[in-house]
Amino acid sequence: MSVFNPDSIRSDFPVLAQTMNGKPLVYLDTASSAQKPQCVMDAMNGILQTGYANIHRGLYDFSQNTTAAFEKSRQTIADFIGANDRDIVFTKGSTEAINLVAASWGRTNITSGDEILITEMEHHANIVPWQLLAQEKGATLKVCPITDKGEIDLEAFETLVTPKVKLVAFTHMSNALGTINPVKDMVRLAKKYDAVVLVDGAQAAIHIPIDVKALECDFYVFSGHKLYGPTGIGVLYGRYCLLNAMPPYQSGGDMISTVSFDKGTTFKEAPARFEAGTPPITQAIGLAAAIDYLNRQGLANIARYEEELYNTAIAALKNIDGITLYNTAMRKASILSFTAKWGHHADIATLLDKQGIAVRAGHHCTMPLMGRLGVTGTVRASLGLYNTGGDIERFTEALNKAKTMLG
Ligand code: ALA
Repeated sequence: MSVFNPDSIRSDFPVLAQTMNGKPLVYLDTASSAQKPQCVMDAMNGILQTGYANIHRGLYDFSQNTTAAFEKSRQTIADFIGANDRDIVFTKGSTEAINLVAASWGRTNITSGDEILITEMEHHANIVPWQLLAQEKGATLKVCPITDKGEIDLEAFETLVTPKVKLVAFTHMSNALGTINPVKDMVRLAKKYDAVVLVDGAQAAIHIPIDVKALECDFYVFSGHKLYGPTGIGVLYGRYCLLNAMPPYQSGGDMISTVSFDKGTTFKEAPARFEAGTPPITQAIGLAAAIDYLNRQGLANIARYEEELYNTAIAALKNIDGITLYNTAMRKASILSFTAKWGHHADIATLLDKQGIAVRAGHHCTMPLMGRLGVTGTVRASLGLYNTGGDIERFTEALNKAKTMLG
Protein backbone atom coordinates (compact mmCIF):
# COMPACT_ATOMS: atom_id res chain seq x y z
CA MET A 1 0.00 0.00 0.00
CA SER A 2 1.25 3.46 -0.88
CA VAL A 3 2.36 5.66 2.01
CA PHE A 4 3.41 8.72 0.01
CA ASN A 5 3.03 11.87 2.05
CA PRO A 6 5.05 14.80 0.73
CA ASP A 7 4.75 16.64 4.06
CA SER A 8 6.50 13.92 6.04
CA ILE A 9 8.86 12.51 3.44
CA ARG A 10 11.74 14.81 4.35
CA SER A 11 12.05 13.16 7.74
CA ASP A 12 13.08 9.95 5.93
CA PHE A 13 16.21 11.79 4.66
CA PRO A 14 18.29 12.86 7.69
CA VAL A 15 20.71 14.94 5.62
CA LEU A 16 17.94 17.37 4.67
CA ALA A 17 17.78 18.58 8.28
CA GLN A 18 21.32 20.00 7.88
CA THR A 19 22.27 23.60 7.27
CA MET A 20 24.62 24.76 4.54
CA ASN A 21 26.44 28.06 5.00
CA GLY A 22 24.26 28.69 8.04
CA LYS A 23 20.98 28.31 6.13
CA PRO A 24 18.61 25.32 6.05
CA LEU A 25 19.72 23.14 3.14
CA VAL A 26 17.67 23.21 -0.06
CA TYR A 27 18.98 20.30 -2.10
CA LEU A 28 18.35 20.81 -5.82
CA ASP A 29 21.05 18.54 -7.23
CA THR A 30 19.30 15.17 -7.30
CA ALA A 31 20.14 14.66 -10.99
CA SER A 32 23.78 14.60 -9.92
CA SER A 33 23.24 12.25 -6.99
CA ALA A 34 20.15 11.71 -4.87
CA GLN A 35 20.09 11.83 -1.07
CA LYS A 36 19.50 8.54 0.75
CA PRO A 37 16.55 7.62 2.98
CA GLN A 38 17.34 6.21 6.43
CA CYS A 39 16.01 2.78 5.37
CA VAL A 40 18.82 2.46 2.79
CA MET A 41 21.46 3.13 5.45
CA ASP A 42 19.67 0.76 7.83
CA ALA A 43 19.61 -2.03 5.24
CA MET A 44 23.34 -1.68 4.59
CA ASN A 45 24.20 -1.43 8.29
CA GLY A 46 21.84 -4.31 9.00
CA ILE A 47 23.68 -6.81 6.83
CA LEU A 48 27.05 -5.61 8.16
CA GLN A 49 25.92 -5.86 11.78
CA THR A 50 23.94 -9.09 11.70
CA GLY A 51 25.89 -11.40 9.45
CA TYR A 52 28.01 -10.22 6.56
CA ALA A 53 30.22 -12.53 4.52
CA ASN A 54 31.40 -12.91 0.95
CA ILE A 55 28.82 -14.37 -1.42
CA HIS A 56 28.65 -17.47 -3.67
CA ARG A 57 31.68 -18.93 -1.85
CA GLY A 58 30.95 -19.85 1.75
CA LEU A 59 29.21 -22.98 3.00
CA TYR A 60 28.65 -21.40 6.40
CA ASP A 61 25.45 -19.73 7.49
CA PHE A 62 26.49 -16.05 7.26
CA SER A 63 27.73 -16.47 3.69
CA GLN A 64 24.57 -18.27 2.60
CA ASN A 65 22.40 -15.56 4.16
CA THR A 66 24.39 -12.80 2.48
CA THR A 67 24.21 -14.64 -0.86
CA ALA A 68 20.44 -14.93 -0.47
CA ALA A 69 20.12 -11.20 0.33
CA PHE A 70 22.34 -10.26 -2.64
CA GLU A 71 20.38 -12.42 -5.09
CA LYS A 72 17.08 -11.15 -3.64
CA SER A 73 18.33 -7.65 -4.50
CA ARG A 74 18.86 -8.76 -8.09
CA GLN A 75 15.24 -9.97 -8.16
CA THR A 76 13.96 -6.67 -6.68
CA ILE A 77 15.83 -4.74 -9.36
CA ALA A 78 14.57 -7.05 -12.11
CA ASP A 79 10.97 -6.59 -10.92
CA PHE A 80 11.48 -2.80 -10.83
CA ILE A 81 12.17 -2.70 -14.58
CA GLY A 82 10.04 -5.64 -15.74
CA ALA A 83 12.99 -7.98 -16.37
CA ASN A 84 14.07 -11.44 -15.22
CA ASP A 85 16.81 -11.77 -12.63
CA ARG A 86 19.19 -13.46 -15.08
CA ASP A 87 19.01 -10.33 -17.29
CA ILE A 88 20.50 -8.14 -14.52
CA VAL A 89 24.25 -7.56 -14.27
CA PHE A 90 25.55 -5.59 -11.29
CA THR A 91 28.06 -2.93 -12.32
CA LYS A 92 29.47 0.02 -10.44
CA GLY A 93 27.20 2.46 -12.27
CA SER A 94 25.71 3.46 -15.62
CA THR A 95 29.13 4.44 -16.94
CA GLU A 96 30.60 1.01 -16.27
CA ALA A 97 27.50 -0.65 -17.72
CA ILE A 98 27.91 1.26 -21.00
CA ASN A 99 31.64 0.51 -21.07
CA LEU A 100 30.86 -3.18 -20.50
CA VAL A 101 28.57 -3.26 -23.55
CA ALA A 102 31.06 -1.28 -25.67
CA ALA A 103 33.96 -3.54 -24.70
CA SER A 104 32.19 -6.88 -24.80
CA TRP A 105 29.30 -6.68 -27.29
CA GLY A 106 30.94 -3.86 -29.23
CA ARG A 107 34.37 -5.41 -29.77
CA THR A 108 32.72 -8.67 -30.86
CA ASN A 109 30.07 -7.25 -33.16
CA ILE A 110 31.30 -3.91 -34.56
CA THR A 111 33.61 -4.08 -37.55
CA SER A 112 35.17 -1.67 -40.03
CA GLY A 113 32.57 0.25 -42.03
CA ASP A 114 29.79 -0.23 -39.43
CA GLU A 115 27.98 2.75 -37.97
CA ILE A 116 27.03 3.59 -34.39
CA LEU A 117 24.25 6.14 -33.88
CA ILE A 118 23.95 8.34 -30.79
CA THR A 119 22.29 11.74 -30.22
CA GLU A 120 23.38 15.30 -29.60
CA MET A 121 21.96 15.27 -26.06
CA GLU A 122 24.06 12.41 -24.66
CA HIS A 123 26.05 12.50 -21.44
CA HIS A 124 29.78 11.97 -22.05
CA ALA A 125 29.35 8.44 -20.63
CA ASN A 126 27.20 7.60 -23.64
CA ILE A 127 29.54 9.29 -26.15
CA VAL A 128 33.13 8.51 -25.29
CA PRO A 129 32.92 4.68 -25.07
CA TRP A 130 31.40 4.67 -28.59
CA GLN A 131 34.02 7.11 -29.89
CA LEU A 132 36.77 4.82 -28.62
CA LEU A 133 35.07 1.72 -30.05
CA ALA A 134 34.54 3.40 -33.44
CA GLN A 135 38.22 4.47 -33.54
CA GLU A 136 39.41 0.99 -32.62
CA LYS A 137 37.22 -0.76 -35.20
CA GLY A 138 37.26 1.75 -38.05
CA ALA A 139 33.53 2.33 -37.58
CA THR A 140 31.70 5.65 -37.94
CA LEU A 141 29.98 7.44 -35.06
CA LYS A 142 26.91 9.32 -36.27
CA VAL A 143 25.05 11.90 -34.18
CA CYS A 144 21.32 12.60 -34.43
CA PRO A 145 20.57 16.32 -34.01
CA ILE A 146 18.03 17.82 -31.61
CA THR A 147 15.46 20.51 -32.37
CA ASP A 148 15.51 24.03 -30.93
CA LYS A 149 13.05 22.82 -28.29
CA GLY A 150 15.58 20.28 -27.04
CA GLU A 151 13.80 17.25 -28.49
CA ILE A 152 15.16 14.49 -30.70
CA ASP A 153 14.71 15.32 -34.37
CA LEU A 154 12.84 12.10 -35.16
CA GLU A 155 12.84 12.71 -38.92
CA ALA A 156 16.62 13.05 -38.89
CA PHE A 157 16.85 9.99 -36.64
CA GLU A 158 14.86 7.94 -39.14
CA THR A 159 17.15 9.06 -41.97
CA LEU A 160 20.27 8.27 -39.97
CA VAL A 161 19.22 4.67 -39.27
CA THR A 162 20.62 2.77 -42.25
CA PRO A 163 21.53 -0.89 -42.75
CA LYS A 164 25.09 0.01 -41.72
CA VAL A 165 23.96 1.09 -38.22
CA LYS A 166 24.69 -1.81 -35.88
CA LEU A 167 24.14 -0.04 -32.58
CA VAL A 168 21.93 2.85 -31.48
CA ALA A 169 22.58 4.34 -28.02
CA PHE A 170 20.56 7.19 -26.52
CA THR A 171 19.37 8.59 -23.24
CA HIS A 172 15.86 7.99 -21.94
CA MET A 173 15.94 11.38 -20.18
CA SER A 174 18.49 14.14 -20.73
CA ASN A 175 20.48 15.04 -17.62
CA ALA A 176 20.94 18.61 -18.88
CA LEU A 177 17.52 19.37 -20.40
CA GLY A 178 15.09 17.02 -18.66
CA THR A 179 13.80 15.95 -22.10
CA ILE A 180 12.14 12.53 -22.05
CA ASN A 181 12.81 10.78 -25.33
CA PRO A 182 10.23 8.72 -27.25
CA VAL A 183 12.09 5.48 -26.58
CA LYS A 184 9.51 3.19 -28.15
CA ASP A 185 9.47 5.18 -31.41
CA MET A 186 13.25 5.32 -31.50
CA VAL A 187 13.56 1.58 -30.85
CA ARG A 188 11.01 0.87 -33.60
CA LEU A 189 13.02 2.96 -36.07
CA ALA A 190 16.32 1.39 -34.99
CA LYS A 191 14.87 -2.10 -35.39
CA LYS A 192 13.98 -1.45 -39.04
CA TYR A 193 17.48 -2.71 -39.82
CA ASP A 194 17.89 -4.81 -36.66
CA ALA A 195 20.28 -2.44 -34.86
CA VAL A 196 20.95 -3.27 -31.23
CA VAL A 197 19.60 -0.54 -28.91
CA LEU A 198 21.10 0.64 -25.63
CA VAL A 199 19.10 3.08 -23.50
CA ASP A 200 20.82 5.17 -20.83
CA GLY A 201 18.29 5.33 -18.01
CA ALA A 202 20.50 7.05 -15.41
CA GLN A 203 18.09 9.99 -15.10
CA ALA A 204 14.84 8.34 -16.16
CA ALA A 205 14.82 5.46 -13.67
CA ILE A 206 14.19 7.84 -10.75
CA HIS A 207 11.22 9.63 -12.37
CA ILE A 208 9.55 7.27 -14.86
CA PRO A 209 8.27 3.71 -14.30
CA ILE A 210 10.47 1.50 -16.51
CA ASP A 211 9.34 -1.62 -18.35
CA VAL A 212 12.20 -2.87 -20.49
CA LYS A 213 10.01 -5.45 -22.21
CA ALA A 214 7.52 -2.77 -23.28
CA LEU A 215 10.36 -0.49 -24.43
CA GLU A 216 11.78 -3.40 -26.45
CA CYS A 217 15.34 -2.18 -26.01
CA ASP A 218 18.26 -4.62 -25.88
CA PHE A 219 20.23 -2.95 -23.09
CA TYR A 220 19.11 -0.53 -20.36
CA VAL A 221 21.49 0.96 -17.80
CA PHE A 222 21.06 2.94 -14.58
CA SER A 223 22.93 3.92 -11.41
CA GLY A 224 22.10 3.22 -7.78
CA HIS A 225 23.23 6.56 -6.42
CA LYS A 226 20.78 8.53 -8.55
CA LEU A 227 17.94 6.27 -7.42
CA TYR A 228 18.21 7.17 -3.71
CA GLY A 229 20.59 4.21 -3.30
CA PRO A 230 24.33 3.98 -2.61
CA THR A 231 27.25 4.82 -4.86
CA GLY A 232 29.35 2.03 -6.34
CA ILE A 233 26.40 0.06 -7.66
CA GLY A 234 24.66 0.19 -11.02
CA VAL A 235 22.72 -2.05 -13.33
CA LEU A 236 23.08 -3.38 -16.82
CA TYR A 237 19.90 -4.96 -18.10
CA GLY A 238 20.47 -7.02 -21.23
CA ARG A 239 18.27 -9.26 -23.31
CA TYR A 240 19.49 -12.64 -22.14
CA CYS A 241 20.29 -14.12 -25.55
CA LEU A 242 22.54 -11.12 -26.23
CA LEU A 243 24.12 -11.09 -22.78
CA ASN A 244 24.84 -14.79 -22.80
CA ALA A 245 26.54 -14.60 -26.20
CA MET A 246 28.91 -11.85 -25.03
CA PRO A 247 32.50 -12.55 -23.95
CA PRO A 248 33.71 -11.55 -20.46
CA TYR A 249 34.43 -7.88 -19.77
CA GLN A 250 36.60 -8.34 -16.70
CA SER A 251 37.91 -11.67 -15.49
CA GLY A 252 38.81 -13.27 -12.18
CA GLY A 253 37.04 -15.16 -9.44
CA ASP A 254 33.35 -16.10 -9.43
CA MET A 255 32.88 -15.66 -13.19
CA ILE A 256 34.58 -18.91 -14.23
CA SER A 257 33.39 -22.52 -14.48
CA THR A 258 36.85 -24.11 -14.72
CA VAL A 259 40.42 -22.80 -14.84
CA SER A 260 43.32 -24.95 -16.00
CA PHE A 261 46.85 -24.19 -17.13
CA ASP A 262 46.52 -26.93 -19.75
CA LYS A 263 43.00 -26.46 -21.02
CA GLY A 264 42.46 -22.76 -20.40
CA THR A 265 39.37 -21.29 -18.76
CA THR A 266 35.64 -21.77 -19.24
CA PHE A 267 33.15 -19.17 -18.09
CA LYS A 268 29.84 -19.13 -16.26
CA GLU A 269 26.69 -18.07 -18.03
CA ALA A 270 25.43 -14.49 -17.76
CA PRO A 271 25.01 -12.61 -15.51
CA ALA A 272 27.76 -14.25 -13.37
CA ARG A 273 30.19 -14.09 -16.31
CA PHE A 274 30.19 -10.29 -16.00
CA GLU A 275 30.62 -10.09 -12.22
CA ALA A 276 34.31 -10.86 -11.69
CA GLY A 277 35.66 -10.57 -8.16
CA THR A 278 33.77 -9.74 -5.00
CA PRO A 279 30.85 -7.56 -6.10
CA PRO A 280 29.45 -4.51 -4.25
CA ILE A 281 27.41 -6.67 -1.86
CA THR A 282 26.16 -4.14 0.69
CA GLN A 283 25.54 -1.63 -2.11
CA ALA A 284 23.31 -4.10 -3.97
CA ILE A 285 21.33 -4.62 -0.77
CA GLY A 286 21.14 -0.83 -0.29
CA LEU A 287 19.88 -0.33 -3.84
CA ALA A 288 17.15 -2.92 -3.34
CA ALA A 289 16.15 -1.10 -0.12
CA ALA A 290 15.92 2.16 -2.10
CA ILE A 291 13.68 0.48 -4.67
CA ASP A 292 11.50 -1.01 -1.92
CA TYR A 293 11.22 2.50 -0.48
CA LEU A 294 10.14 3.95 -3.84
CA ASN A 295 7.64 1.13 -4.33
CA ARG A 296 6.15 1.88 -0.89
CA GLN A 297 5.71 5.55 -1.86
CA GLY A 298 4.17 4.54 -5.19
CA LEU A 299 5.99 5.48 -8.41
CA ALA A 300 2.85 7.06 -9.88
CA ASN A 301 2.36 9.20 -6.74
CA ILE A 302 5.97 10.37 -6.91
CA ALA A 303 5.69 11.22 -10.62
CA ARG A 304 2.46 13.20 -10.03
CA TYR A 305 3.94 15.11 -7.12
CA GLU A 306 7.18 15.92 -8.92
CA GLU A 307 5.33 17.09 -12.02
CA GLU A 308 3.29 19.56 -9.98
CA LEU A 309 6.40 20.86 -8.26
CA TYR A 310 8.25 21.07 -11.57
CA ASN A 311 5.47 23.17 -13.15
CA THR A 312 5.52 25.50 -10.13
CA ALA A 313 9.29 25.90 -10.46
CA ILE A 314 9.15 26.59 -14.21
CA ALA A 315 6.45 29.24 -13.68
CA ALA A 316 8.54 30.86 -10.92
CA LEU A 317 11.67 31.00 -13.10
CA LYS A 318 9.73 32.52 -15.99
CA ASN A 319 8.90 35.44 -13.67
CA ILE A 320 12.57 36.35 -13.21
CA ASP A 321 13.88 38.80 -15.82
CA GLY A 322 16.81 37.86 -18.02
CA ILE A 323 16.54 34.08 -17.61
CA THR A 324 16.69 31.71 -20.58
CA LEU A 325 15.29 28.25 -19.89
CA TYR A 326 16.57 25.24 -21.84
CA ASN A 327 14.16 22.65 -20.44
CA THR A 328 11.63 23.38 -23.16
CA ALA A 329 10.70 19.96 -24.58
CA MET A 330 7.07 18.90 -24.59
CA ARG A 331 7.85 15.76 -22.53
CA LYS A 332 10.25 16.49 -19.71
CA ALA A 333 10.75 16.00 -15.99
CA SER A 334 12.32 17.49 -12.90
CA ILE A 335 15.27 19.35 -14.42
CA LEU A 336 15.50 23.14 -14.68
CA SER A 337 18.39 24.28 -16.84
CA PHE A 338 18.98 27.98 -17.43
CA THR A 339 21.33 30.85 -18.05
CA ALA A 340 20.85 34.46 -16.98
CA LYS A 341 21.94 37.49 -18.92
CA TRP A 342 22.85 39.18 -15.61
CA GLY A 343 25.36 36.56 -14.42
CA HIS A 344 27.68 33.69 -15.24
CA HIS A 345 26.33 30.24 -14.31
CA ALA A 346 29.19 29.55 -11.89
CA ASP A 347 28.69 32.90 -10.09
CA ILE A 348 24.97 32.23 -9.76
CA ALA A 349 25.58 28.75 -8.30
CA THR A 350 28.14 30.20 -5.85
CA LEU A 351 25.70 32.86 -4.65
CA LEU A 352 22.96 30.24 -4.28
CA ASP A 353 25.35 28.10 -2.22
CA LYS A 354 25.87 31.02 0.16
CA GLN A 355 22.11 30.99 0.71
CA GLY A 356 21.97 27.26 1.42
CA ILE A 357 20.81 26.21 -2.06
CA ALA A 358 22.69 23.34 -3.76
CA VAL A 359 22.52 23.33 -7.58
CA ARG A 360 24.93 22.22 -10.29
CA ALA A 361 26.50 24.67 -12.75
CA GLY A 362 28.64 23.92 -15.79
CA HIS A 363 28.47 21.67 -18.83
CA HIS A 364 26.87 18.73 -16.95
CA CYS A 365 29.13 16.27 -18.81
CA THR A 366 27.34 17.20 -22.04
CA MET A 367 29.83 19.44 -23.85
CA PRO A 368 28.48 18.73 -27.36
CA LEU A 369 24.97 19.61 -26.16
CA MET A 370 26.21 22.88 -24.64
CA GLY A 371 27.84 23.66 -28.01
CA ARG A 372 24.48 23.04 -29.72
CA LEU A 373 22.78 25.43 -27.26
CA GLY A 374 25.52 28.02 -27.85
CA VAL A 375 26.56 28.21 -24.17
CA THR A 376 29.51 27.00 -22.13
CA GLY A 377 27.26 25.86 -19.33
CA THR A 378 23.98 26.36 -17.50
CA VAL A 379 22.71 26.44 -13.95
CA ARG A 380 20.86 23.20 -13.29
CA ALA A 381 18.36 22.75 -10.48
CA SER A 382 16.96 19.23 -10.28
CA LEU A 383 14.14 17.91 -8.15
CA GLY A 384 13.66 14.78 -6.09
CA LEU A 385 10.69 13.39 -4.19
CA TYR A 386 11.81 15.21 -1.03
CA ASN A 387 11.63 18.72 -2.49
CA THR A 388 8.76 21.01 -1.51
CA GLY A 389 7.02 24.19 -2.58
CA GLY A 390 9.01 25.86 0.22
CA ASP A 391 12.25 24.80 -1.51
CA ILE A 392 11.08 26.43 -4.74
CA GLU A 393 10.26 29.66 -2.86
CA ARG A 394 13.70 29.69 -1.22
CA PHE A 395 15.34 28.99 -4.58
CA THR A 396 13.56 31.81 -6.41
CA GLU A 397 14.14 34.26 -3.55
CA ALA A 398 17.84 33.37 -3.63
CA LEU A 399 17.95 33.78 -7.41
CA ASN A 400 16.37 37.22 -7.16
CA LYS A 401 18.98 38.14 -4.57
CA ALA A 402 21.76 36.87 -6.85
CA LYS A 403 20.30 38.96 -9.67
CA THR A 404 20.43 42.08 -7.51
CA MET A 405 24.04 41.37 -6.54
CA LEU A 406 25.27 40.50 -10.04
CA GLY A 407 22.99 42.64 -12.20
N1 ALA B 1 25.63 12.60 -14.48
C1 ALA B 1 25.47 13.38 -13.29
C2 ALA B 1 24.86 14.72 -13.58
O1 ALA B 1 24.20 14.87 -14.57
C3 ALA B 1 26.69 13.47 -12.51
O2 ALA B 1 25.05 15.65 -12.85
